[in-house]
Amino acid sequence: MRRHHLTTAGSLKEYGKAIISEQRFRSSESCFTHMKLVRSSLSQRSRVLFVQTDLAIEGTTRVLVPRLDLSASYPPSSAPVFYNPQMELSRDINVACMKVLAEERSAAHRLTYLDALAGSGIRGLRVSNEVNLSVTLNDNNLEAYRLIKENVKRLHPNVEATHLDANVLLSRTTFGVVDIDPFGSPAPFIDAACRSVREMLCVTATDTAPLSGAHFNAGVRRYSAVPANTEYHAETGVRILIGKIAREIVKYDKAIVPMLSHATGHYYRTYVLVGTGAAAADKCINELGYIGHCTKCGHRYIIPGLAPSGISDCAVCEAQHDLAGPLWLGSLHDRQFCANVVAKITAGVFRTSKQAQRIIERCIDELDTVTFFDYHELLKELQQPPMPIEQLLAALRRSGYQASRTHFSGTSVKTDADVTTLKKVLRDLSANAMLQSHDMPPDR
Ligand SMILES: C[S@@+](CC[C@H](N)C(=O)[O-])C[C@H]1O[C@@H](n2cnc3c(N)ncnc32)[C@H](O)[C@@H]1O
Ligand SMILES: [Zn+2]
Repeated sequence: MRRHHLTTAGSLKEYGKAIISEQRFRSSESCFTHMKLVRSSLSQRSRVLFVQTDLAIEGTTRVLVPRLDLSASYPPSSAPVFYNPQMELSRDINVACMKVLAEERSAAHRLTYLDALAGSGIRGLRVSNEVNLSVTLNDNNLEAYRLIKENVKRLHPNVEATHLDANVLLSRTTFGVVDIDPFGSPAPFIDAACRSVREMLCVTATDTAPLSGAHFNAGVRRYSAVPANTEYHAETGVRILIGKIAREIVKYDKAIVPMLSHATGHYYRTYVLVGTGAAAADKCINELGYIGHCTKCGHRYIIPGLAPSGISDCAVCEAQHDLAGPLWLGSLHDRQFCANVVAKITAGVFRTSKQAQRIIERCIDELDTVTFFDYHELLKELQQPPMPIEQLLAALRRSGYQASRTHFSGTSVKTDADVTTLKKVLRDLSANAMLQSHDMPPDR
């Protein structure tokens, strides 16, 4: 008996549970959408391609996705076509961002959107259905392309499908929005994406280890930048990614302004608006620079410019310090854009809306300062017990400093106070807490 499987799943566990029968999704075709004989040009051997599909619903969009082997060590790669239900949060935020962008453009100007590395096509199919952009889905994997065509034929006839190397397509054609959502590093696609894009570039990086300094040499090779394996490595990673995009795009007399950038789970994602002209590109270069970090005392400072100058020993403890960069020193978010995205998320149909809202609201609230301090680490160094983050934020503000939480880490603060001041505030707070506990009447 033919059955289609329905998933509204954000998690693999739920994905495994959600199944509906043929009556709920009428189709005359077998769910073995690609049981076809093709000749492999490489091996010159015949092989049969099977892509067994399920029907997924994300947002308000129905999509045929490859059926995953839930017992595999990494289910998203268990099928011949890649599909990761756990990236629903990323796709929800993407849809909301595209809604805001589309609204900011005139109705007459229907944006084109390319998912250059589309897999099953789910990301772009949602953008077509839920935002009504003019979508092209591309994948160089034949089975992925066939699944995309199947989705277009059966569910989304307005979408275009192409079967090209992403860099070939991006070099030939321009698109309003270019989405680069690859396996691992986006680095091989950034140059061609910068050439192609006219309005907004959306980039995912899952190579967080190279970007954040855990795989140092790979990070240097891919991004031509020195990463930093510090407590704020996720922020440095996002800034190196944006810095790379900026350095690639300016040669085309284009510029970027980051609208929303977040580090969530195993990936980084940034949405950058694209401008044109040599003056805008020059301004963009001015947002690049370096972070100086003293590994002895934790003092850090920024050095603007592509050619680092004025490097001395640590201003606090006079030890030599490390440099990370070149990377993006400017804002990571545009608060108005982010607020509009939150409004779309709360008004729309998104299964991950609570989580998406929490991430973006924290992005809105976080200070624009470069780097953050993990105050739990500082308390350990000072041999003091933990304290609530709100207490530290309030104390910093009382002392005349700016202070905020950050979406990058639950135990960290962003502040314009330097490390010496921060340690003093923490010491004072700990001493006060100790005094208060001594003043308390003994337990009876
Ligand atoms: C992570 S998956 C895409 C996931 C998809 N964007 C989503 O949201 O579900 C990456 C895809 O890139 C495709 N790919 C890898 N290298 C490519 C290239 N050079 N040109 C085009 N597609 C490529 C792979 O076949 C794979 O389907
Ligand atoms: Zn120092």
